[in-house]
Amino acid sequence: MSVLLTGGLGYIGSHTAVELLQSGEDVVVIDNLSNSNIKTKTNIKKIASEKRKISAKNFKVYIGDLRDTNLVEKIFTENKIDSVIHFAGLKAVGESVKKPLEYYDNNINSTLSLLKAMNKFKVKNLVFSSSATVYGQAKSMPIYEDFEVGATNPYGRTKLFIEEILKDAYAADSTLNIAILRYFNPIGAHDSGLIGEDPNGIPNNLMPYISRVATGRYDHLNIFGNDYNTHDGTAVRDYIHVVDLAKGHLKALKKLRKNCGLQIYNLGTGVGYSVLDLVNAYNSVCGNKVKYIFAPRRPGDVDICYANVDKAKKELGWTAKRNLKNMCKTSYNFECKKSKLK
Ligand code: NAD
Ligand code: WQD
Repeated sequence: MSVLLTGGLGYIGSHTAVELLQSGEDVVVIDNLSNSNIKTKTNIKKIASEKRKISAKNFKVYIGDLRDTNLVEKIFTENKIDSVIHFAGLKAVGESVKKPLEYYDNNINSTLSLLKAMNKFKVKNLVFSSSATVYGQAKSMPIYEDFEVGATNPYGRTKLFIEEILKDAYAADSTLNIAILRYFNPIGAHDSGLIGEDPNGIPNNLMPYISRVATGRYDHLNIFGNDYNTHDGTAVRDYIHVVDLAKGHLKALKKLRKNCGLQIYNLGTGVGYSVLDLVNAYNSVCGNKVKYIFAPRRPGDVDICYANVDKAKKELGWTAKRNLKNMCKTSYNFECKKSKLK
């Protein structure tokens, strides 16, 4: 039996593919390469092969779009899929405001295509990549899974709508097992430096921008806002190492296989760090190469956002292990390898 990863060549999908393969699972990927590179396939195989011999039977990649129902049916016909982890989607908040229809089409229709095929082929287990963005402006911190939801942009609304679709699908078929994972701020890279986050164009997110300043691609970082109500005036987030996050998916899969019904879990560390905390940690590993200036607040940003992670700890037996310094160190290592500075 195999686990199907939609968007499995992307940032979080590739790290999860490695963890799954290394733990003895067989993995099938579908990815349309809209935000990834085919070289990642080779790198996943290379890393996983250090622990286990990986053949074409253990790891298969289909290049194509999840909305292509013929291709999706072919994948379910050619492989014995036991569970699906659904990462595929567009994820840039700003872009979603400019191109809402593209976001609704890609994120919602690909999910419908997947759910129809799962229904046809009687595949019952699904992990879905949701986001802390569904909490919008939370009423207090930390954020619990039962907090009110309400997204503030089209990207966030696709996540909210998909969560609702999954709840309806479960209401109609209680033999489904669905884990909705609401990620906080994933950063960091694999220890090998072979896979990590490498967005096309100018990064919107903080960590890839910092990495490019550290390796000389950009002159300085703009820190958006230093007048927030936080310990140093810069905004606070719950940064989580992508390898910890990937391991969380394996725990969720284990839970699904015990017939858990529909469950929602926050995946974060439960600790908030400011933009300046992150910059300082990064500077301690790269030798003070990250210059910054303070700039106005970015519209739509909240001052503080961090998770309560008790539910994942209690029910999945999962907690994040890696600290901020390790997140910075692995990001820097990945960026240096990419830029061939080391
Ligand atoms: P990513 O862009 O690196 O990976 C997504 C992958 O899906 C890419 O490889 C892309 O090519 C592929 N893809 C997109 N649309 C597709 C389609 N229609 N058919 C086939 N493949 C398609 O993003 P990521 O950071 O790895 O995020 C994975 C998931 O987690 C996304 O759903 C994202 O919304 C969610 N998420 C990400 C973050 C984050 O900060 N990275 C936070 C919360 C939630
Ligand atoms: C973090 C902090 C910025 C860039 C986003 C999505 C969310 C989720 C994770 C998908 C903020 C500041 C940033 C820069 C800066 N993704 N910043 N200078 O906004 O918390 O969350 O990614 O689901 O949905 O909204 O992450 O990395 O963009 O920003 O000062 O050049 O860094 O203002 O305070 P965010 P981020």
